Amino acid sequence: MQPRHFISLLDLSSAELHTLIQRAIQLKAHRDPNYQPFKGKVLAMIFEKSSTRTRISFEAGMAQFGGSALFLSPRDTQLGRGEPLEDSAKVISSMVDCIMLRTNNHETVTTFAKYSRVPVINGLTDLLHPCQLLADMQTYFELRGDIAGKTVTWIGDGNNMCHSYINAARQFDFKLNIACPIDYRPQQGIVDAAGHRVAFFNTPEQAAQQADLVVTDVWASMGQEEEQKKREFVFKDFQVNSKTMAAAKADALFMHCLPAHRGEEVTAEVIDGPQSVIFPEAENRLHAQKALLEFLICR
Ligand code: CP
Ligand code: NVA
Repeated sequence: MQPRHFISLLDLSSAELHTLIQRAIQLKAHRDPNYQPFKGKVLAMIFEKSSTRTRISFEAGMAQFGGSALFLSPRDTQLGRGEPLEDSAKVISSMVDCIMLRTNNHETVTTFAKYSRVPVINGLTDLLHPCQLLADMQTYFELRGDIAGKTVTWIGDGNNMCHSYINAARQFDFKLNIACPIDYRPQQGIVDAAGHRVAFFNTPEQAAQQADLVVTDVWASMGQEEEQKKREFVFKDFQVNSKTMAAAKADALFMHCLPAHRGEEVTAEVIDGPQSVIFPEAENRLHAQKALLEFLICR
């Protein structure tokens, strides 16, 4: 049987994603230490970039379900010395039950998936961060119910998180209002595929009108550290602050995948304020990914 992969939110059907979110909510509410579906199962985790949440949530999730996880960095494996991805994918997937990768280039993950005989999960690339969206959607469903027909506002860089929000707008059927500098818009192909669901605005206040959820992310992602100063200048008018939240609905939520830079993309007042749900959002990485692993491994 061909393995299912989770490289993009579009790899699962909308119905499968909704089922997965409900399963994540259930797993969080009813933790059963005797439920050990991953007994003897191993997840290999390849990290080319730093991580706190992704590493810990996958590792803890595997352990809680009776399995184990291997942390692999290119520095300590032959991947860092140029062993072909094709060979690495064939070898690693012959020994483990699932592979999660966090890589600089999206193509590294798609190549791995092509040659892997076990499911491959995208733990963040330069293009997409679909695991974060599972947690974000779980958080919204838990706190506010179905997100279908709601308005989500994205402020800031048209980056991997923004691309995943666009895909989520398609799969979960919400409207996505984006405010970002013209030269930092998300990829046109991804935007076009979402059709009428995505709209662009000039200012955060315009984009946040009547929003149910306001989301942002760092101005300089991992690998863009040398652009930090330039980006601080370009993005200075694309901050989530009390003016942005005032434009949104009174009960709007604020989310951020973390790590955050207070005073840059979001003020401390907002991210540490009553509308912010960043910590349940971070915790839900654990529950959502347990549901994802269960879906992929226990088929
Ligand atoms: N949000 C997220 O993916 O966090 P980490 O970089 O800490 O894994
Ligand atoms: N856009 C950020 C997300 C970090 C979780 C990055 O790629 O660094």
